[in-house]
Amino acid sequence: MAVEERSQSLAVGTALLERARAVDASFQGRAGVLSAGYGPGDAYPVFVRRASGAHVEDVDGNRYLDFLQGFGSVVLGHADPQVSGAVTAALADGIAPSLHLESQVTLAERLVRTVPGAEMAAFLKTGSDATSLAVRLCRAYRKRDLVLRWGYHGWHDWCAPRPAGIPAEVRARTAVFTYNDAEGLVARLQRDGDAVACVIMMPVEIDPPEPGFLEAVRAACDHHGIPLVFDEVRTGFRLALGGAQSHFGIAADLVCLSKAMANGHAISAVAGRRAIMQGMADVSASSVFFRGADGFAAAHATLDRLEGGAPYRRLWSLGQALSDGLARAASEAKVPARPAGLPVMPFLRFDHGDPALDQAAMRTFCKAMLKRGVLLHPAHHWFTCLAMTEEDIAGAVAAARDAFAEVASACVA
Ligand SMILES: Cc1ncc(COP(=O)(O)O)c(C=O)c1O
Repeated sequence: MAVEERSQSLAVGTALLERARAVDASFQGRAGVLSAGYGPGDAYPVFVRRASGAHVEDVDGNRYLDFLQGFGSVVLGHADPQVSGAVTAALADGIAPSLHLESQVTLAERLVRTVPGAEMAAFLKTGSDATSLAVRLCRAYRKRDLVLRWGYHGWHDWCAPRPAGIPAEVRARTAVFTYNDAEGLVARLQRDGDAVACVIMMPVEIDPPEPGFLEAVRAACDHHGIPLVFDEVRTGFRLALGGAQSHFGIAADLVCLSKAMANGHAISAVAGRRAIMQGMADVSASSVFFRGADGFAAAHATLDRLEGGAPYRRLWSLGQALSDGLARAASEAKVPARPAGLPVMPFLRFDHGDPALDQAAMRTFCKAMLKRGVLLHPAHHWFTCLAMTEEDIAGAVAAARDAFAEVASACVA
């Protein structure tokens, strides 16, 4: 079954982008979901009109099956009626009450019940808030400054990917280690362990941990008495209700949570060992919006839906069907590509033996998918959501057959 290529006008979005660039500084440089190096010819929409369930519609009226899902913050589907209903009810009672809400306490109780090892939790708004608080708590607890990290943790000074605007002394207090290199981390801790406040890492991004890697990280941290922080902003409530900790069977001392916790609403949390969390008495960590009712309401409504094993079996099986379908379609088209990543956060890697050709292939593939109504990110793994159907996945695989055929003719080694 071939999927018809649609005429994909982006005229309205392009005009809006021009207006945006004149007045909104956040549009300087890249815009929308594009990675640096991608441009207008890549057919990516920048502005959305609405998002509902598994789909988004751009301002030009093009509709896409959405595998970005708010960069993983949406797990049930966009505009989920139950979550929206809970938030609307909270709005009616006032969302900025100065005093604390009972829903904050019940959410903390819920995280303590649900998140492995969590004895206390603290709530914030963004993933960057949560990772920065975890680091601050560990520095206060260990009375050391050096942070060893791996992964993306947000935009704050200690971890921002780009150095501009950040004092060199601040950057020097954080060092990046290599994922799946247990020996390297062990050696680093042997050398500098006494100066280290914490090890903070995404438990997984695209490549799965090699057998024994996470265990070795845990053991090395234990050996030196260093807290291990899992940045589960992406994996929390996504891999399982207990996140990567329960999926991989490794306990962290603190976890950072956000994204899937509230199906796209702004709330984040740090949860973990009481001894470290009690440092909240000493560190600065407050914002008027941290106690907003909407985030707590959205989180409760989302977690209500994620309880029981069935939602996770579905999220994984939809992703598995996509990964299997992509593998079959690539092989039929004789394109060197293979699914990568955990099925619940699937991705695709081209393997021509030439990075430039692989990048061109990804670009061609994603553009061909967009023209067939499937929104994928070329440089960030994708996400399934509970609003997706088996038919949606079958449609994406059918589109991929055509997209791989385009890659086969455009990208020849
Ligand atoms: C693993 C991880 N940590 C932290 C962050 C930062 O979260 P935010 O963008 O909400 O500040 C992200 C965001 O993508 C993330 O994926």
